[in-house]
Amino acid sequence: MQTLTSTLAASSIPNSLQEVLHVITTTCVDISGKLQQGASAGILGAAGNENVQGEEQKKLDVISNTMLKDTLSACSHVRAIASEEEDDIVPAHTTGSYLVAFDPLDGSSNIDINAMVGTIFSIYHQTGENRATEADFLISGKEQVAAGYVLYGPSCMLVLSCGDGVAMYTYDPTEHVFVLTQDKVTITPDTNEFAINMSNQRFWSQAMQNYVTDLVLGAEGPREKNFNMRWVAAMVGDVHRILCRGGIFIYPWDNKDPSRAGKLRLMYEANPMAMLIEQAGGKAFTHTERILDIEPKEIHQRVAVILGAANEVDACLTY
Ligand code: F6P
Ligand code: MN
Repeated sequence: MQTLTSTLAASSIPNSLQEVLHVITTTCVDISGKLQQGASAGILGAAGNENVQGEEQKKLDVISNTMLKDTLSACSHVRAIASEEEDDIVPAHTTGSYLVAFDPLDGSSNIDINAMVGTIFSIYHQTGENRATEADFLISGKEQVAAGYVLYGPSCMLVLSCGDGVAMYTYDPTEHVFVLTQDKVTITPDTNEFAINMSNQRFWSQAMQNYVTDLVLGAEGPREKNFNMRWVAAMVGDVHRILCRGGIFIYPWDNKDPSRAGKLRLMYEANPMAMLIEQAGGKAFTHTERILDIEPKEIHQRVAVILGAANEVDACLTY
């Protein structure tokens, strides 16, 4: 049996990065424990405040954020963290070599209905020694040294890339280990499954409306095949489905608030997912550019996201 610990130990990944990954994954196992307690521990529902994004925080958003912030800040290899639930970056150790950005609980509207949620993380290497500033985080996603997510579903799963493909691990709660359950994950280039929040259709660009209209026309339309639609309402769940059986996921620009480039956040949602998707042979773009090439301007920056099966992303971009 291969586990996370044994596969990392057998790899060329530096010990310091292995330790950071160990901190993230063990904390996520504890977050999974909190999610399992759920209503019995009185930790469902709203926390009663908003995050810097103007979104209502759930109690479990706050709990997961605090858990990851505390454990990562205590790890000597961590220079600083950035989180969806923190207004500013949180400096940790000036001698630490890694910056960690995370969404502590993605898909938090799913929490109260006992549906899929997850923790998404993105890791960058840092040289030198300094007290970290936000500017240190403003590096394009192609510089990520590791990215992944822990999915809290019927099984607790870790999906990880350290730049050499994508591996899936399933947590065995009896042995307390992440077991390697799929290596070298690949996304087939063609698909007939798409994920988009159709209720926003009237707010999309005309091009996006035309693309989705053609998907829905199916075999009778220009695409000449039928498409199925899925929407988990947690990006982590939709991306996981695409890594498992293909598809395309889109959260496009819309004119509800034209000043917003999109809904999803570049640093701790789009970039780590784009790395996983590309490492599995798929593509990840905004309406105009490769997500991993974007030079971030601020840690909570939003982007449009079109990712998944390579040929389908290309088909979408031709519109
Ligand atoms: O983090 C934002 C997020 O919860 C994503 O996980 C998800 O894809 C999206 O928002 C869901 O948005 P909507 O409310 O449009 O379904
Ligand atoms: Mn999220």
